[in-house]
Amino acid sequence: MAALAGPCSRCILPGVNGHVIVIGSINVDLVVAADRLPRPGETILGGRFAVHDGGKGANQAVAAVRAGARVTMIGAVGTDAHGERSIAVLEAEGIDVSRVRRLDSEPTGVAIIAVGPRGENQIVVAPGANGAVELDDADRAAIAGADVLLTNHEIPASASLEALRAAKAGGVTSILNPAPARALSAEVLTLGPILTPNEHELIVAIGNDETGAALDELVARHRGPIVVTQGPAGALLADGDRRERFEGRPAPQVVDTTGAGDTFCGVLAAWTAEGRTLDEAIVAANAAASLSVAGAGARDAMPRREAIEELLGL
Ligand code: RIB
Repeated sequence: MAALAGPCSRCILPGVNGHVIVIGSINVDLVVAADRLPRPGETILGGRFAVHDGGKGANQAVAAVRAGARVTMIGAVGTDAHGERSIAVLEAEGIDVSRVRRLDSEPTGVAIIAVGPRGENQIVVAPGANGAVELDDADRAAIAGADVLLTNHEIPASASLEALRAAKAGGVTSILNPAPARALSAEVLTLGPILTPNEHELIVAIGNDETGAALDELVARHRGPIVVTQGPAGALLADGDRRERFEGRPAPQVVDTTGAGDTFCGVLAAWTAEGRTLDEAIVAANAAASLSVAGAGARDAMPRREAIEELLGL
């Protein structure tokens, strides 16, 4: 394993608690597990209904704080019971929620999730307040003072772009998880965040449906590293001419894969914020993602730092 980088200059506890700002979605997940996933037009009977806390942004924030980062969340919920619950849960995790807006005009985001027997899922999101997320000057200033910005595609493209611009202006490392899939603009590619697509998101991002060719094309157009997440197979780092595979860790138990990608991104951000190398951050993120699938919902098995370090033998 590569040597540790020096401690981060802006960390609260140098080398330990980097500051991660997440701007992204906050949802409540309505989940039913079933023996198999339904086909289009089909109704099937499933098992017990469960409500879990979710949203890619909020999940990533929780993964980062459990991995040891100081975390600030920027996002929006409605003035409804789901919103109150979501904020209370994030606060209880130790996340700074002072930049989460409560909007009268929109309900809190909701995701309808079906989980199959191998933990695989189908997800449909009603964005609600997530679709109205926008940045103000105080948000931009907060981003410029953080160690790492982490954002995703469950909020308007304009909001994540604004956040990436603020990070660039402040010299802050940024990570864009391009999920759900959409094409990446030329400006996003020029800003050069660390990109974390899965293979489907990679294909859609570049508009080429052959994975290898899409990656080559994205590398040619993007000014930053690309970490392609591959589920249990691990991750592939593409950075200029460099291609490096990071093997996934076998998951001890697979109950629900919802949020595994979010765990990967949150831990990647936390490790990066404390001054670790990207290689080290990917190794930790892979380990955390493999642990995260052992429980129901996105967050039940999302690991704390001690569990990640134990798996890594640190
Ligand atoms: O990545 C998993 C998340 O996607 C779920 O928690 C759901 O809310 C959707 O945003």
